[in-house]
This record gives sequence, C-alpha cells and structure tokens, in this order.
Amino acid sequence: MLKIDLTGKKAFLTGGSRGVGRAICLALAECGADIAFTYLSRDEAANGVVKEIEALGREAYCYKCDVGNFDQMKETLNDIKEKFGKLDIIVNNAGGSKVVEIDELTPEYLDTVLKSNLYGSFYSIMAGGLDLLKEAGGGSIINIGSSAMYSGMGGGPQYSASKAGLLGLTRYMAVQYGPENIRCNTLAISLIKTELLNKFDDEMLKKKIATVPVGRLGEPEDVAYMTAFLSSEMASYISGEVILMDGARTYAK
Ligand SMILES: NC(=O)c1ccc[n+]([C@@H]2O[C@H](COP(=O)([O-])OP(=O)(O)OC[C@H]3O[C@@H](n4cnc5c(N)ncnc54)[C@H](O)[C@@H]3O)[C@@H](O)[C@H]2O)c1
Repeated sequence: MLKIDLTGKKAFLTGGSRGVGRAICLALAECGADIAFTYLSRDEAANGVVKEIEALGREAYCYKCDVGNFDQMKETLNDIKEKFGKLDIIVNNAGGSKVVEIDELTPEYLDTVLKSNLYGSFYSIMAGGLDLLKEAGGGSIINIGSSAMYSGMGGGPQYSASKAGLLGLTRYMAVQYGPENIRCNTLAISLIKTELLNKFDDEMLKKKIATVPVGRLGEPEDVAYMTAFLSSEMASYISGEVILMDGARTYAK
C-alpha cells in the first residue's frame, strides 16, 4: 500500500499546542517522525500534545518559546540539536493577528505581527534549523501561510503582508538550497476550524461557508495531511511552491 513514511525523521514545528500545529504534530508522528515543537503560553495543552505523540510511540519535546525572539529560538534549537542531532522537517506554523485596519494599526502591533508570522519563520532557519537540515543531508521546510497573502484581505494589512513575505523566503530557500537537497514550500490556507475562527459568530460562519465552493470549512487535518506529504520523499520534486488550500474560495471571489 502506498503510504507516507517518515520513519526515523526528526521534525521541528512552531506553535504545536493547538489548532493546525497540533494536528500537524500528530500527523507527522503517525507517519513515524519524532517531534519537537514550541508553544507560547499554554503549558497544560503543550504537555497534552507531548503525551499524545508519545502514545503514538514517538519521541516528543515541547519548548516554551516566543518565535519572534531570536535568542529564545536559538536556545530552543540548541537543545533540539542535543536531543535529535539533526532535523529532516521544519514547519513554521506559529502566527496569527487581530483584525486591524491600517488607520488603526500602531507601529508596535505591526512589529508584533511581523515578528511572530514572518521573522519567526526566518529565525527557525537562521537560529540553527538550516544547520540541522544540513546534518540530515537535506530536508523539507513547510511554512503555513494564508490565502490573505494573495487577497490582501482577512486580518488587516499587517497580517497579509507578514504572510506574503513567506513567498520570498520560500522561493529563496528552494532555489539556493535545492542543490543541498533542501526543499521549501508554503501552504496558503483559509477558514480552517480552529480557535482563530472563534472571532466569528454562527451567522457570520454560515456566510463564510457560503463563499467556499466546496461547501465546508477546512479541518486542521486537511493541512496536516498535506504537510506530511510535503515532508516526505513522495514530494521530492515539489519545491518553491505556494499551495492554496481554501476549497477554491480565493478563485470564486
Ligand atoms: N485557522 C485559519 O483559518 C487560518 C487561516 C489562514 C492562516 N492560518 C495560519 O495557520 C497557523 C496556525 O493557526 P491556527 O488556525 O492553528 O490558530 P491558533 O490561534 O489556534 O494557533 C496559532 C498558534 O501559534 C502560536 N503563536 C502565535 N504567535 C506566537 C509567537 N510569537 N511565538 C510562539 N507561538 C506563537 C499560538 O500560541 C498558537 O499555538 C497560523 O500561522 C495562522 O496565521 C490559519
């Protein structure tokens, strides 16, 4: 049977305690990978995900780490180097933003969003992640973007710009490090059922679903399965790509 096999692979993911990040941790572990992930504040939820991964028979470590803080990221990756010695998979998932229009945006909030959503994805690579991929003889980087990187809408300009910046990082890493067997791709996701959608009431959610041609919200697992595939050798000819996962919503507008 054709199956995604990540046996013996070591993965690092940011923002793993809930939502899309948690689903990715579990999918990669189910495919055989050991997992190290960061979280921002919820100790109990993070420890719960560690237990769920361990129950799948895999090694798991969680790190309280603000991905927008380079020193914290470096400390985290130094420890992962001790534990794993290499990395085959990096998933830059942590991020988010309040909906803020440009006439209400403060320089401080712009910094906050760029730091978590864009700088964080650079930092995981710059602060030791790239060296650990090289130790593995190559690997796969997957960034979690948003359909807002195309549309400009859905969170305010600070959010769409922070996600659009991932395109440049993706193309650069794919071209520059392809010869070292390192691939990089981004998933541009939209309307996935996580806490991020709690800001919408039922009426608003119905209106949102009506804009999705496939007629439903995305599940965290939709993103997790695609991440597992892109992490695997099956996807070894896909690099530098941004893949829209939005049930065709962007094209229907
Ligand atoms: N759910 C959606 O519809 C949707 C749509 C487009 C993009 N996304 C993206 O998907 C990713 C996952 O979001 P989600 O839907 O699971 O939402 P979520 O709010 O449940 O999860 C976001 C995670 O990122 C972490 N995080 C945020 N800032 C951080 C920081 N500075 N340092 C460390 N961790 C930080 C949070 O702690 C949390 O674990 C995010 O990058 C988000 O922008 C989600």
